[in-house]
Amino acid sequence: MEWTKEQRYRSMDDVTDEEIQALAKLVNQCPWRQSFHIQPVTGLLNDPNGFSYFNGEYHLFYQWFPLGPVHGLKHWYHTKSKDLVHWENVGMAIEPSNEFDSHGAYSGSGIEHEGKLYLLYTGNTRDENWDRHPYQCLAIMDSNGSIVKMDAPVIADAPSGYTDHFRDPKVWKQGDLFYTVIGAQRENETGSVVLYRSRDLKDWQFAGEVKTGLGEDFGYMWECPDYFELDGQGVFLFSPQGLKAEGESCQNIYQSGYVVGRPIDLENIELKHGPFYELDRGFDFYAPQTTVDHQGRRILVGWMGLPEIDYPTDKNGWAHCLTIPRELTVKEGKLVQQPVDELKMLRGEKVETSRKVENETVCLDNFKGDVYELHVEFSDSTAEEFGLELRVGENEKTIIKYDCAAKKVVFDRTESGEPFAEEFGTIRKCKLDAEKISFRIFVDVSSIEVFVNGGEEVFTGRIFPGKNSNGVRVFSCGGQTNVQAVKWDIK
Ligand code: FRU
Repeated sequence: MEWTKEQRYRSMDDVTDEEIQALAKLVNQCPWRQSFHIQPVTGLLNDPNGFSYFNGEYHLFYQWFPLGPVHGLKHWYHTKSKDLVHWENVGMAIEPSNEFDSHGAYSGSGIEHEGKLYLLYTGNTRDENWDRHPYQCLAIMDSNGSIVKMDAPVIADAPSGYTDHFRDPKVWKQGDLFYTVIGAQRENETGSVVLYRSRDLKDWQFAGEVKTGLGEDFGYMWECPDYFELDGQGVFLFSPQGLKAEGESCQNIYQSGYVVGRPIDLENIELKHGPFYELDRGFDFYAPQTTVDHQGRRILVGWMGLPEIDYPTDKNGWAHCLTIPRELTVKEGKLVQQPVDELKMLRGEKVETSRKVENETVCLDNFKGDVYELHVEFSDSTAEEFGLELRVGENEKTIIKYDCAAKKVVFDRTESGEPFAEEFGTIRKCKLDAEKISFRIFVDVSSIEVFVNGGEEVFTGRIFPGKNSNGVRVFSCGGQTNVQAVKWDIK
């Protein structure tokens, strides 16, 4: 179905309860609803927003178009949790309502200030010629969870020299000042990030464009920037659009990645850093956002999806989910990402096995399932290739393997189930030189997240297999390998 502009930008005030109920019914009939991931009740979810620890709870908002699986009038939807595992759907948080956000409450971030949670976001507007004009807006949530939008934007225009692609403020505090980075497109249509400062989160001064070592031509727009310091280093995370695929890198329609280096020089507005790395080597990952919690952990959540791609759940009136939260650390100039420890709470019944596999594919009968956590370690291998087949059915399987000669981890969803996004390829690979290979995998009804060797690389992907495709197999070719595997059902 083609969605008209009118349908995409309809106000929720004009939508009847019956319509929403009919949509919810269609959504709930979908065989691919997730079980432990944050997903929209109806419609489309995209970027995580306002991720913060406030008043004893984690708050995680997301971009939401309630009426169907398309990008239309965006709202902020609110979820919260005490433990990063069990999330409560709180409901609508920010609705577009005025001349500064009439065409969408776009992405932004949250920070605690004077006992309240300040939510800085981009108000998207369009004029009669459908030209956009973005405003940076502020909404304030009190400790009872009620949210009030400020009447006027806190930043009314993009700085001169930049186009109207100016959005996604990510705020942090350093010393007495607040800072925000905002994704901005230069007038020559290249991507960049700019910095503002403020004493009170209301009055903002433009500080300048952040100088980086990425050159003047690193994609045409940087969405969802994020800056933080971790283990004494500065980490800048962003989602550049327009990078060219190269070898096995940058295979998805848009990328998201990071650079690590010295803490940002706020005087000269400069980042000195190492190379750009992709955050996730799988298929469906974009626009991540981080927060720091009361334990000092830096935690990242991403959108498990991408813009401009049709997904098999579209016909059921919904699309996308968020990734599980990942704790970040820095190791040798790269980020290491591990599922937050609290996820162990989900562990139910446990099975394990230890065996040698030699030029064969072995079915682990008691490992069957469609929602579980799985750890597999491969060691003392003489094989050319070894790995796993998951969600195995009559004509379906999802392969996670290691190619020992090429020293590459491979995620193959060619036969995972209902096909989609095939024009971007169905295999992802990433170099990893290691003696031992371990996979820690979270499987939900329609997704897989693979943490390789303690989170040195991560592969995330949606898959849409049949309900009965729940086999688990291990294999090795061209030699043998030792396999140690543990699986927990997720309750
Ligand atoms: C990234 C993004 C942001 C924007 C939001 C709109 O996916 O395009 O730049 O604020 O989504 O939903």
